[in-house]
Parts: sequence; C-alpha cells; structure tokens
Amino acid sequence: MEIGERITSMELETGEEMQEVGLRPQTLDDYIGQQTVTDNLKVFIEAAKRRGEPLDHLLFYGPPGLGKTTLAGIIAKEMGVDIRITSGPAIERAGDLAAILTNLNENDVLFIDEIHRLNRSVEEVLYSAMEDYALDIIIGKGPSARSIRLDLSKFTLVGATTRAGSLSAPLRDRFGVVCKFEIYTVEELKQIIRRSAVILGVDIDEQSLTEIAMRSRGTPRIANRLLKRVRDFSQVKGNGTINMEITQMALDAMGVDKRGLENLDREILQVIIDRFHGGPVGIDTIAAAIGEERVTIEDVYEPYLIQTGFLYRTKQGRVVSELGYQHLGLTSLPIAQQYEDE
Ligand SMILES: Nc1ncnc2c1ncn2[C@@H]1O[C@H](COP(=O)(O)OP(=O)(O)O)[C@@H](O)[C@H]1O
Ligand SMILES: [Mg+2]
Repeated sequence: MEIGERITSMELETGEEMQEVGLRPQTLDDYIGQQTVTDNLKVFIEAAKRRGEPLDHLLFYGPPGLGKTTLAGIIAKEMGVDIRITSGPAIERAGDLAAILTNLNENDVLFIDEIHRLNRSVEEVLYSAMEDYALDIIIGKGPSARSIRLDLSKFTLVGATTRAGSLSAPLRDRFGVVCKFEIYTVEELKQIIRRSAVILGVDIDEQSLTEIAMRSRGTPRIANRLLKRVRDFSQVKGNGTINMEITQMALDAMGVDKRGLENLDREILQVIIDRFHGGPVGIDTIAAAIGEERVTIEDVYEPYLIQTGFLYRTKQGRVVSELGYQHLGLTSLPIAQQYEDE
C-alpha cells in the first residue's frame, strides 16, 4: 500500500488479490452474512444438481468488497464445476469472448467482473450464448458473408457489477436471478474478523473485534485489511496480541475515525454543510465541489454514508442528517429534517 492511499478503499490493491486468497471462504457454511442471497442460492444449487443442469445465470450487484467474487467461487465448488474468472474491460473483442466460451466445459461457471463495462459488440455475442448456448459467427464480408451457429457447452454466467442500473436492459433481462449484496452488520463483520484472525494465527480480544468491525464500513475486504494493519502494530509496538490499546493506536494512525470514515467521507459531509447549507444538493455539484468522479461518490462513498444515516438521498438531492452533523461535532440546522427519503 502506498503512502496516502486510502486504507478503507474498497477496491483491491496491487498484490492484495494473492493475500486475500487465504482468507477467502471456500464453502457456503464459511460464507458469513448475505442470508437472503445464500438461502436462495442453496435451493437453486440443490435443484440444478438434481437435474444435472447448470445453474441459471446470476447477476450480483453491490459495492466492492462485499463478497461477490468469493461467492461465485463457492458456487462453482458447490456445483462441482470449474470457474473461469474474467472482467468486462479485459474482454476487448468479440473473438476474445468466443475463445473463452468455447473453452468452457459442461455446467462450468464463467465469472465476469465489472460486467457493465463490456463493450457493445462483445455484449451482443453474450446474448445468444446466454440464451441458447450458441455463438453466431459471421464469416466473410459483403454479399458473400454468411452466419454460422456454433454450439457451446451449457454454462452458468455470473456477472458482477457495482451498478445494476448501468447494465443494458437486454443483458439484464437474460439473467435468471438477480442478487443484491448488502453492507454487513457489525455482528457479521466480527465473525469474519474472528475467522480471519484464526487463519492469520493472531490473538485478538472481544473489544478489539468490535472496534475493528465498527470501523470497516460494513465491508469484509476492509475488515480484513484493518485486521492485518492492526496485527502489524501489535507485532511492532506490542507483544503480538491485539488489544484495545493497540487497536486504537493503529486505527488512529491510519486516520480511520470511530465510524470508519476517512478524510474524503468527512469532506463530502463538510462540503454539503459549508457550501450548500447541509443540502439538498445534486450529486454532480458535490462531485465538482470536491473534485471526485460522480460514479466514485455514488458507488464507493455514498452507500456507507447513507447506511450510517449521516446522509440522506432525497428527491431534491443529498442532505446531511442530524447524525451527520453530530459526527462532525456540529449542530444541525432545522433544514435537515424536512426532506423525505427518496
Ligand atoms: N461473506 C463473507 N464471509 C467471509 N469473508 C468474506 C465474505 N465476503 C467477502 N469476504 C472477504 O472479503 C474479501 C473480498 O471479497 P470479494 O469476493 O473479493 O468482494 P467483491 O468481489 O464483492 O469485491 C474476500 O477475499 C474475503 O476474504
Ligand atoms: Mg470482486
């Protein structure tokens, strides 16, 4: 991790993928939380296995770091098939996708991360592949061009996206099941951290577990990352055991506040208060004011600010709540209460 980089960034950092592998749950029983999603999947997996058919195509959506890739891997394992992992931006041409598809075996899982970033010509190949397990290939050019149909093995496409709304309707409609991933509760995060601590072989007391869980923005990836940093502190500044003193020291040193907010999160709230009287203000205006991309604010920062109740999304725009004011140590203007939720 580079200096100045956000510790609570929900995106993967370079090299982190490898480190995450050991902490990644391998079975549905080890996969904590997302009860609604997993309860349904258990039924679909069981039914598909009995019929000897592939699972319906699944669309996973929700903020980064909530376990979408992990769950896709678990599904393949539970189905007893292989998984092929790729991403929207990695598939540049229709031919790249055709090559991947023709190499799948019966009932395999194809995982496409950031599926909303597939380009149009690639996406069109996917339609017949998803619907009929077939590829339509055009051979030749001009009047002599003809189309041939190539059969594929039956497979399950698992698409993941941070934004279901930016998927084209024809693509979205071809998914049999759409699963929304929710931000985790403190209790669930504690379970995840407890499990990770066992795997990492580090002792951690109950209070520290709670503290790290509360500062993880409802995100397992961040919880694991904070745990590793706190462990570093415990080894260098303490005796290797994670207690409250070490935890506080480590988290404060990283600039992560009591609720897991970092500078940019606080800046978003502060800007709305200082420059727009606490809102309502449109997302584009906020983005311009703090110099971030609108999608980053919507996908990465806003979900957690809304979940904590610091920010409301109303029909008129974003509004900082009473709690948001309190978190910054300010008193709210009466305006914060008069807007209804979107
Ligand atoms: N439900 C869960 N239970 C335990 N650990 C989890 C869970 N979901 C995610 N994790 C941990 O968080 C990390 C990030 O999850 P990942 O599947 O890569 O998220 P996403 O694909 O949604 O960005 C995983 O490596 C795993 O260690
Ligand atoms: Mg992922």
